[in-house]
Amino acid sequence: MSFDFLRSSILSSEQFDVPSLERVFSLAKRMRRIASGEVTCKVLQDNVLGSCFFEESTRTRWSSEAGFMRLGGQVITMWDPRFSSMEKKKETFEDTIRVLSGYVDVIVVRHSEIGKATIAAQYSRVPVINGGDGQGEHPTQALLDAFTIQQEVGRLNDFHIAMVGDLVRGRTVHSLLKILSLFEDVRVTLIASGKWQMPDDMVKKAEQAGCKIYQTDDFERGIKSADVIYMVRPQKERAENGESEMCDRYCLDVRVVENKCKKGVVIMHPLPRNNEIAKDVDDLPNAAYFRQAENGTLVRMALYLLIFGKEDKFV
Ligand code: NCD
Repeated sequence: MSFDFLRSSILSSEQFDVPSLERVFSLAKRMRRIASGEVTCKVLQDNVLGSCFFEESTRTRWSSEAGFMRLGGQVITMWDPRFSSMEKKKETFEDTIRVLSGYVDVIVVRHSEIGKATIAAQYSRVPVINGGDGQGEHPTQALLDAFTIQQEVGRLNDFHIAMVGDLVRGRTVHSLLKILSLFEDVRVTLIASGKWQMPDDMVKKAEQAGCKIYQTDDFERGIKSADVIYMVRPQKERAENGESEMCDRYCLDVRVVENKCKKGVVIMHPLPRNNEIAKDVDDLPNAAYFRQAENGTLVRMALYLLIFGKEDKFV
């Protein structure tokens, strides 16, 4: 049976299957006019979102909150846990989540440690959405990334994607690879140098699921026949002490796009970017990363409707 979103926590991309993704994407498409404010919607007027960010965020927090508000809901944000009772009064994470879940109807949690959203879900009385747990997963980002591929390429099977950069610590590529493994004839080139490659267990799992995976550190060869290039930034904030950073040697600029890539290649990035995509790429029609960021609101709105069982009641 397909994954049922009703009152479910969203913790990992492994929860999804193709029919459940199709439900999210077809609903997300219908969110555009509500997300832009053209159409007013009050379907979540009785609901409150708890937005708990224990790690920095721009897009995930804003799109999670804006999406909830566009559907008529209210939002309470914890964007700096130093001002909660956790820091000075030493309240535990578990107690904090248990208490907060008595005040709201759904909680988005971002944390710098792997597995924290799953722990939150164990202590919460309401569904928890993983907004990124350390270098673990970022399932809602993967939803919006896959949705963007569907919109930009026109399909989610039979295409070639190159993922480039810090693939070991970039959680978005971990979650996206899991989702792409569900589709037919997806070819993935993983471009990273040395220890920045995608963890072996993730590569093996994707291969077992039917993905064709090539690993290389040769940027220009790897991107040559890609339909989509997905760049990630070096996750330097996750560096261990004294680690020298060699994970930022790839840069996509207009010269590379025009001379080394397939015509019309879709260029994606979860953002924020550092130097891995030059600013001169921004004005190309196939630079999709700002559209990708906007899609975050649509996909998260669709998720709320499914979690609250209001899929058919939003007009
Ligand atoms: C990503 C994240 O936080 O993992 N950002 C995002 O949510 N769009 C990517 C990143 O920080 O590099």
